Amino acid sequence: MDTYRLAMIGFGNVGQGFAQILAERGPQLARAYGLNLKIVAVCDLLKGSLCDPAGLDPAALLAAVQSSGRLDSIPAPHRGWDALGTIAKVDADALIELSYTDLKTGEPAITHLRAALERGLHIVTTNKGPIALCYPDLKAIADEHGVEIGAEGTVMSGTPSLRFGQELLAAAGITRIQGIVNGTTNYILTQMENGMDYTAALAGAQAKGYAEADPTGDVEGYDAAGKVVILANLLMGASLDMAAVDRTGITALTPQDIAAAQSAGARWKLIGRVESENGKIIASVRPTRLPLAHPLASVGGATNALTFTTDLLGDVTVVGPGAGRLETGYALICDLLAIHRKQRQ
Ligand code: HSE
Repeated sequence: MDTYRLAMIGFGNVGQGFAQILAERGPQLARAYGLNLKIVAVCDLLKGSLCDPAGLDPAALLAAVQSSGRLDSIPAPHRGWDALGTIAKVDADALIELSYTDLKTGEPAITHLRAALERGLHIVTTNKGPIALCYPDLKAIADEHGVEIGAEGTVMSGTPSLRFGQELLAAAGITRIQGIVNGTTNYILTQMENGMDYTAALAGAQAKGYAEADPTGDVEGYDAAGKVVILANLLMGASLDMAAVDRTGITALTPQDIAAAQSAGARWKLIGRVESENGKIIASVRPTRLPLAHPLASVGGATNALTFTTDLLGDVTVVGPGAGRLETGYALICDLLAIHRKQRQ
């Protein structure tokens, strides 16, 4: 049995989803895969910070947050460390970085991740900012220190996307990836087709935990653009930045546009796309009117879908949850399991 001691920065929706999975399935994961995941530190700006080398019970962490919104009631030998203090002092094997996403600067996550890698910790994150903006630098530091980066949850939450492309489709020759990569906007468009107005639909996406802290990132297409950059750079050998994505969000779509598409047997979807054209990688995010018979047209709500076009297999499509607390928390489990397997080899 291998034990991975985990330090968590951020204990919001995704962190709590991860803790819930550990509380419910930790022993089963240990039995099935020989992997004991032990949270030894949690640091959250709003909820407090604590560290216990003996391990923190995930169910107790959840109960504390649910009852008081804070972690103060949990006994621990160390308290009050900030994020960088936690990373500097904790005795851990991996850092789970779940601070808020900033697609402009990637901070504070980039600083957290660099510090952890330099201490020889594996890093696992669902934070799109650092992976979209800084992956090559982080990978170089990781390689120098012999540790791994897990970022599966940055695209399509726990639905296989990055590892699927990197491991299972790598030899098939990916020439294009396109699909629905933002749950919030797909949920809003689906609700608007059902007659709800934009503001109520956005409020629904926020209430369900799909939207970013600042939902402008979702509705203006920045979140999808970040995911397109991640797909391009991790799966298609590109080195795009955010500005390279030709981006339009959904805010200019009116109820009339949506009704007109419906009466013409079509549906609006926010489509992210990256493709190789004459050796150059081109990327875009834009509302696209799809005929109902198109495979992506029937993907509704917060569900995401990606179609990988490959030389050897033609089109391969993955459909599944694209946001949500357990759905994204699951991606962290996948990454930790993949790291564990790689280390064992
Ligand atoms: N805000 C994102 C979305 C969360 O709606 O898809 C998952 O990355």
